[in-house]
This record gives sequence, C-alpha cells and structure tokens, in this order.
Amino acid sequence: MKVLVIHGSMRKNGNTGILADEFIRGAQDAGHGVEKVELRDKKFGDCFGCRACHNNGGSCVQQDDMAEILEKVKAADVIVLASPLYYFTWTGLMKRFLDRTYPLLPILQDKDFYLLTLGGVPDKKFMANILSDFALYVGCFKEFNQVGVRNAGGLSAPVHWHRELSANRQPCRKRMKRARIYKGESRCLSSIRR
Ligand SMILES: Cc1cc2nc3c(=O)[nH]c(=O)nc-3n(C[C@H](O)[C@H](O)[C@H](O)COP(=O)(O)O)c2cc1C
Repeated sequence: MKVLVIHGSMRKNGNTGILADEFIRGAQDAGHGVEKVELRDKKFGDCFGCRACHNNGGSCVQQDDMAEILEKVKAADVIVLASPLYYFTWTGLMKRFLDRTYPLLPILQDKDFYLLTLGGVPDKKFMANILSDFALYVGCFKEFNQVGVRNAGGLSAPVHWHRELSANRQPCRKRMKRARIYKGESRCLSSIRR
C-alpha cells in the first residue's frame, strides 16, 4: 500500500509530528511505502471556489505547490490526515489543504482515510467536532464506515516536555507509555486490503 501522511500542524516537530512519525514507523514496519507532506513548508492558497476544476477534468487554475501534492494524493492508496485540535477541529492549514482537494472529488472514493489527532485538553469529548468533520469530509465522496477509534489518554503538556521529565519521574513515564498506544494504532494499517 502507498500511504500519504498529510501533516497539518504549524509546529513541525511538535506533538502531532511525533504522533505522525510513530504512525509512519508502524506502517513501514508492516511493509507499506510511506511519504509525508509537511503542509507548513508548502506554498498554496485558498480554494477560489470557481469550480473550474469540475469542468476541465480536475485541474486547479492556481499554479502553486498544491499541484504536486494533488499528484501524491492521486497516487496514494491511503491518506492520513494529521492535525492537532485548534478550537475543537483541525488547523486552518489542514482545512485549506482539504478545500483544495476539490478537483479530486471524483477519485477520492478509491482511497482509505485515517485521522491522527490530539489536543491539549485531556477530555475526549472535545474530539467530537473533529471526528464529525472527518466523517463529513470523507462522506462527501464515499460512504463513511468508521473502522475504529483509539484514544491514548490525556497528555496536557507537550510530549517533549513529558519525555524530559519521564527520565526521573515515574508518573510521567507512565503517561508516555500510554501515549505509545499510538504505535499500536499504526499497526492497523497492516490489516488493510485492497
Ligand atoms: C490556536 C490553538 C487552539 C487550540 N485549541 C485547542 C482545543 O480546542 N482543544 C484542545 O484540546 N487543545 C487545543 N489546543 C492545544 C493543541 O491542540 C495542543 O497544544 C497540541 O498538542 C498542539 O500540537 P502540535 O505540537 O502538533 O502543534 C489549541 C492550541 C492552539 C495554538
């Protein structure tokens, strides 16, 4: 399987980056080819809403980095959206990317989608919006069948911070162990079949 991870945090090596990298490690261990796109390093604008792409065979009128990203999306079997929670949903950067996938509406039904997310507030009820937004986005081009959700528990401070503390503080080490459940999540990919 070709897996494309779209990283939509503004902090390249922040918590979402760590989560995405753990996912990638698990997917690679399971024999999948993985590529990661750092959205923050790309230059692309908002969707114009002109719908030209729906009348010209799927080309966007804007000449920016999105052209190259859309080629990667087309080539992938699995698309992984990785974003921290910003006011109960994904970042503006991720939203801008998703809007620009409009030219690909006719072909996205052939892909499997994953969402990797986390927030600063250790309460899973605050994840309701992003899970709903994810289901609605995927539901625009295919039937949304939720295969599974995993929750690694609360980490209220950046993982880096916990990592430093975990060297000599038992409670923090325990929390990091819980965060490692992410690794298990990435193994889900090994069971994907075409
Ligand atoms: C503008 C902004 C809005 C945020 N909104 C939420 C939120 O609604 N719920 C939450 O749990 N955390 C929220 N957070 C905290 C981040 O999700 C959290 O710090 C996360 O670990 C950041 O991930 P990163 O290291 O990949 O940037 C917000 C952070 C920022 C900067």
